Amino acid sequence: MKITILTLFPEMFDSPLKYSLIGKAIERGIIQIDVINLRDYALDKHRQVDDYPYGGGAGMVIKADVALRALRELRRDDPEVRTILMSPAGRTLNQDLARELAREKKLLVLCGHYEGIDERVLTEIDDQVSIGDYILTGGETAALVLIEVVVRLVPGVLGSEMSIDDESFNDGLLEYPQYTRPRQVEDLEVPAVLLSGNHEEIRRWRKKESIRKTLLMRPDLLLKKRLDEEERRYLMEILFPEHEGERP
Ligand code: ADE
Repeated sequence: MKITILTLFPEMFDSPLKYSLIGKAIERGIIQIDVINLRDYALDKHRQVDDYPYGGGAGMVIKADVALRALRELRRDDPEVRTILMSPAGRTLNQDLARELAREKKLLVLCGHYEGIDERVLTEIDDQVSIGDYILTGGETAALVLIEVVVRLVPGVLGSEMSIDDESFNDGLLEYPQYTRPRQVEDLEVPAVLLSGNHEEIRRWRKKESIRKTLLMRPDLLLKKRLDEEERRYLMEILFPEHEGERP
């Protein structure tokens, strides 16, 4: 997958893209991330990228001619690219949208800045994406979140030892609690079932604890999910522990 970032602050991407899974995926050539300075497409002698808003008001607005030139030139090189504007007005990023974007071969991500971006730029934008209902000073940190979320879903990015099938949100539930050595920390112990070696019991315990965690932390997710028979049973046991073992 190739992701091109169009930004006024290319340096903001240097360090975050160097490390961890993303850094490795770039090194291994599974993904390519090009960071391009929007200012390179400002052709006047001051290389001006923003201007005062028509009608007055505070702040500066990114110029349509500069952003449109950049988007069109980059699209000419990659006609199948999907163009995205990072904006609080966009579709809120979630795991479903991430999966959808991870299926694309090429993404072109424009980071807004200042008070906004000239509305005419939207004629070259396929999707607007928000990372949540709050206002950032610019789209760069939002674009980094998008990259992180999408790239780890691209086949081959996660090593075979890591599973994206098992993790939070994949089946609409939060992940079960995890433990590692040592077995005892102060008076806190690892649940005995995890030391039992009984894979079926461990699977059942994890499923039930996953439901318990979702119920406590994110009941909204549980309301959205279609529970199967086993999951419904665990939910009843959590809600009515005194009736555990009884037939419904
Ligand atoms: N730019 C400013 N705020 C943003 C947000 N919440 N999501 C995406 N881009 C943004």
